[in-house]
Formats: sequence, C-alpha cells, structure tokens
Amino acid sequence: MFANKKIVLGISGGIAAYKAADIASWLTKNGASVHCMMTPNAAGFIAPQVLQALTHHPVVVDEFMSGPGWGIVHIDTVQNADLFAVIPATANTIAKIAAGIADNALTSAVLAANCPLFIAPAMNTHMYQNPATQQNIQTLKNRGWHIMLPASGHLACGAVGEGKLPEVAAIEAELQRLLLPSQDLAGLKFLVTAGPTIEPIDPVRYITNKSSGKMGYAIAEAARDRGAQVLLVSGHTNLIPPAGVEYLAVDSAASMLTACLDAYDGCDVVVKAAAVADYRVAEPAAQKLKKADGIDEMVLRLVKNPDILAELGRRKTHQLLIGFAAETNNVEEYARQKLVKKHADMLVANDVSRADAGFDVDTNQVTIFTAAGDKLISPLASKRQTADFILDAVRARLDKQ
Ligand code: CTP
Repeated sequence: MFANKKIVLGISGGIAAYKAADIASWLTKNGASVHCMMTPNAAGFIAPQVLQALTHHPVVVDEFMSGPGWGIVHIDTVQNADLFAVIPATANTIAKIAAGIADNALTSAVLAANCPLFIAPAMNTHMYQNPATQQNIQTLKNRGWHIMLPASGHLACGAVGEGKLPEVAAIEAELQRLLLPSQDLAGLKFLVTAGPTIEPIDPVRYITNKSSGKMGYAIAEAARDRGAQVLLVSGHTNLIPPAGVEYLAVDSAASMLTACLDAYDGCDVVVKAAAVADYRVAEPAAQKLKKADGIDEMVLRLVKNPDILAELGRRKTHQLLIGFAAETNNVEEYARQKLVKKHADMLVANDVSRADAGFDVDTNQVTIFTAAGDKLISPLASKRQTADFILDAVRARLDKQ
C-alpha cells in the first residue's frame, strides 16, 4: 500500500510512546520506509532498539549520532519524506515546534522538513486544555499541520478526560488518508461559503455573529484534498485561507450573494456553511455616530437581507446544494423546514448550544438531512473529519444521479 513512501515518525516522551511501535510496524508491513526520531525522554519510555528492529532503519535520538553513511541527521532524515508524523506529541514538543525551537534531533528535523506534517497530541487533560497548549496547537493548524484530536478516557496519570492518544486503528486510518488521499471529487467544482457576514452601522461599527469559519474552511480543505477545484467565499475570520483553494474575501451578505451568483453557473456543488446575517442596518451612517448628551437610547432600523441559499435554490439547474442550520433548539424540525423551504439537496444541522459542537470549537457533530429522506448522524470528531463525513454524503448523492 505504501510502497515508495518515506515516513518520518517522530516520537516524543509520553507514556503513549509505546503505541508508536504498533504504528511503525503497521507502516513498515505495508511497504513504507519508516525512519524514527525520538526525543531523549521518549527513549525512556520505549527502547530505540524496538523501533529499529521493527523498521529496519537506525533510530535517531541524538543529533550527533554517527556511523557509516550518516550525514547531518536532522537534515538527511527528512529529505524526500512524504510525511512527518509526531506520535505521540507531548505538550512540550508541541510548544517547541510552535516556537520554532530546535533543541533536539526531532525538533530540529521538524524545522528542516518540507513535507506534510501530522501530530497526534497526547497528555494529561489539564495540560491539553491549558491555553498555552491550545494556542500552540492552533498555531500549528494555521501553518497547515494535520492535527488528530486526542480521545477522552482513562489517562495514565489516573485522571479521566481529554488527552488520550486515539486508538491506534484510528491513527492508522488518518495516516492512510494523508498518504493516499482519495481523489473521489476530482473534476468537480465546489463553491464553499464560510464565516460570518458583517453589516455596517457606521464606518467603525458593525453587526456580526460568532461564526469562526472553521467548519467551512475544513470543508474547502477536505474537498481540495479529494481532488475538487474549490472557490472559498469567506467573511472575516482569523483563519489562513487553505493553499490551493481559490479565495474570495467578502464582508456583507450582499457582497457574499454577488460572489455566489457570479460563480454559481460554473459550480457542481455548493456548500453554504457561512453564517449570514439575516438583517442589515437600513441606513448605515456615512460618518461615525456620536453619543449625544442626555440621550440614553439608540434605535437601529434593520431590514431583511437576501437569503443566499434560498436564492441559489431558486436558480438551481444542475448544482448540488448543501445548506447548514445552526440551531439551539428543535434542531431536527428547523433543519427539515430549511431543507424544503430553500430547495437544498442536503441540510447539515448543527446544535450550536453544545460546548463541543458550537461556534469556534475544533470539534463538531452534525446530522445531515437529505431531500431523499435520509438522516445521517456523524460521530463527534474534528471539524476536518466532519468535513470528510459531509463530503462522503455528497459523493454518495452524486453517485446516485
Ligand atoms: N443563509 C443564507 N442567507 C441568509 C441566511 C441564511 O444563505 N440570509 C443560509 C446559511 O448559509 C445556511 C442556511 O441558510 O446554509 C441556514 O442558515 P441559518 O442561519 O441556520 O437559518 P436562517 O435561514 O437564517 O433562519 P433562522 O435565522 O430563522 O434560523
């Protein structure tokens, strides 16, 4: 399966380090050339000789290792690699990578790597949830790293919670997806909308919502990886547009509508993940509004925005139209109503009252309602995995046409 694939497996010093042996063995048995690099602490949890015996390659722990044919280890090891996977990635190693610190062979090699990068964080729950760790993981994500979220369960420290290395089989499935990406959406043009719209009140103030854009960006990225040509039309977010995706920044609902209509005829699939403002200020002020002494109230008159999804539904010819429904209650009822009312082919419903599936979190759990009457429930997973779940449903629907 992985013939001609060179994989650098970085192992940092957590108790889950022993699981890296299974992964190294599986990759090797499937034809990959696996080169392990361990932090000195990792070598305290699992002997380098175990990994060497399983992969048939010397294991790098010390930057100054030498032997016949050895050059500069942190440069040579990553040369022509197809993937650099750090499993498990401890809080310390993640922090060093985020900061660009190169104080051991593994972290030096990460800096020298010019290939897709993957980490599977594993650590104590409090360490994982610490804002420093979360920020570091976000930094890596913004740089294009593939992150596999940890699982919840009994941890080696005795605590129960987030931070566990996911099941080895789940990591293997993720590595397979990265090494052999399916091209099942090749030849299709996707229009994906993401993020919030903003509706001006005056030149310095506006009305917006809590959408982070993460779900839409994950869908754009996943569709790209599966071979689609993608146009991402996005409101203001803090996210970096995915490489290889055509990107159009918009602000108001009106500008998002124009961008969508311009692209619509040439699209095969439209995914409307954006959180569009339903109303805009009727008459935004041309100059900054000033407080007036003695007037304690201010009334803004709002008028309805165009419903972009409904408009695309009306104009639909050959396109497959996927809408979203962000709800806090009666999720199924409202989602089904929107599916019909907006002439969508699928409606992805999101319960945004949940802490693990709402705005600005990295996980999601959705239910897809299709015009054909199907109801598909995704597991709680990263937004990237949820994106693939949605795209699997799109692929299945296209196959039925
Ligand atoms: N949508 C849109 N244009 C709007 C409002 C919503 O294109 N003016 C799209 C969203 O992108 C999403 C779907 O319609 O795909 C549902 O959006 P949502 O905000 O959940 O519902 P609304 O239609 O706005 O209804 P309500 O606010 O009453 O829930």
